[in-house]
Amino acid sequence: MKGRFITFEGIDGAGKSTHVAESIRWLRARGHDVVATREPGGTELAEALRELVLHRPMSLETELMLVFAARRDHLEQRIVPALERGQWVVCDRFTDSTWAYQGAGRGAATERIAWLESWVLERLQPARTYWFDVEPQVAAQRRAGSHENDRFEREDLAFFTRVRDGYRDRAASNPSRILRIDGSRSVEEVQASLEEDLATLCNR
Ligand code: ADP
Ligand code: TYD
Repeated sequence: MKGRFITFEGIDGAGKSTHVAESIRWLRARGHDVVATREPGGTELAEALRELVLHRPMSLETELMLVFAARRDHLEQRIVPALERGQWVVCDRFTDSTWAYQGAGRGAATERIAWLESWVLERLQPARTYWFDVEPQVAAQRRAGSHENDRFEREDLAFFTRVRDGYRDRAASNPSRILRIDGSRSVEEVQASLEEDLATLCNR
């Protein structure tokens, strides 16, 4: 059996974490060996970098390089070995987050992100990416009072509108990989569309 690399994307509060957990349960119930992970993070070193990125003030350039440094360690230590063992890797956020947050949200130059992506990823891309699309206002309501906000969650609606536009552009330029999921529906409806697509991936 061959492993698959699946990522979940969307603005903060879109519902990713909820459906990552549900989807992992669904895959495991079907006998798949699943590694559940997240970015920034997923290894001891990358989790340490996550703390810095989420909570320390820094320039955009530093932020961009730290998310890719974390990603490189995560790929080397966790993602690639798991895929080579035939496991499934389900990751809460990956490089599309960088395009959307550092690129569209903060204005990092496209060429810089593209260059770092080709260097760090060496062409490895997820087999499927689920983009949870919700209005920034809806996501903000869902986030309200959930936990202490990090540097990204403190951003305003204009920022999350740019991030959402960034995801829309990524989906348009990667139509066979990125599937838009209408995240404004109920948890049950969203999960049903995910399971329908996951079933096609299982049979591929
Ligand atoms: P993310 O990981 O994208 O930030 P979460 O999964 O943590 O989002 O969801 C944010 C909040 O919204 C949580 O309180 C969660 O229970 C709720 N939520 C998630 N999906 C839905 C949905 N489809 N409808 C309504 N509320 C949802
Ligand atoms: P997230 O994974 O959504 O965690 P939680 O649900 O626990 O708050 O938060 C991580 C934050 O990191 C999120 O706001 C987006 C940001 N991020 C980037 O800006 N660039 C990246 O490349 C990645 C992976 C995440």
